[in-house]
Amino acid sequence: MLELKNITYKVIENGKEKVILDNISCVFEDNCVTAITGQNGGGKSTVTKIIMGILKQTSGEIYFNGKEISGLTIDERANIGLGYAFQQPVLFKGLTVKDLIDIASKENNSVSKACEYLSKVGLCAKEYVNRVFDKSLSGGEQKRIEIALALAKNSDLTIFDEPEAGIDLWGFDKLNSLFDKKKSYIIVSHQEKILLKADKIIVINNGKIVESGASKDIVKKLNKDVCKRILGGKNENR
Ligand SMILES: Nc1ncnc2c1ncn2[C@@H]1O[C@H](COP(=O)(O)OP(=O)(O)OP(=O)(O)O)[C@@H](O)[C@H]1O
Ligand SMILES: [Mg+2]
Repeated sequence: MLELKNITYKVIENGKEKVILDNISCVFEDNCVTAITGQNGGGKSTVTKIIMGILKQTSGEIYFNGKEISGLTIDERANIGLGYAFQQPVLFKGLTVKDLIDIASKENNSVSKACEYLSKVGLCAKEYVNRVFDKSLSGGEQKRIEIALALAKNSDLTIFDEPEAGIDLWGFDKLNSLFDKKKSYIIVSHQEKILLKADKIIVINNGKIVESGASKDIVKKLNKDVCKRILGGKNENR
């Protein structure tokens, strides 16, 4: 289980303090898919980066399986079972897709095993396994490979930041089948179809948790809110 306790993140912008995350507290249960959604710029990616140690919170604690992990490096967090797929894939010079799968899974995979990971994310594996992971790959291909690498890591808790971004309709239908029921996932997403596949949803706006609960309930609420905004508050009795 992962728990965030009173996480605040502040930066200095033009000499002034800016609060990006304001006292975020929440729990990510084991064997559970938790989605994080909310307005652009709300603080979702910042939360995930703080969990992974890419950013350091200004105050607050992070507990993973009961242990406070704020003092651990990114690598140390990866070693205790936290994995991450970035919103913007990172390109590694000169490495092939197979090299990256081997690094992610910490073993020398057979080509057929490496291909299995690629097939899972809807890529025709033979065409990609020996390709260099660089800008010659399309945005959607990079994103799918990034998801395949996160799966190859087989972490206890994997964070996906907008896995559907730039991915065609495959993303919606296939994503669910990627989840292993014995593992935990955090998915940052704006897509209703993905949100409905989660067990729980947390909504973050302006650096604060504004809603959290069972997926269906929260999606219903979000749809009502969107409707309300469009109709100017005229549907309050719906
Ligand atoms: N170093 C910084 N200086 C100033 N503002 C920052 C800094 N880092 C993050 N921010 C701001 O913090 C806010 C939260 O950013 P974050 O990337 O977490 O948003 P998000 O919820 O992931 O948005 P999106 O849905 O667009 O991906 C944004 O308004 C961003 O501009
Ligand atoms: Mg983001």
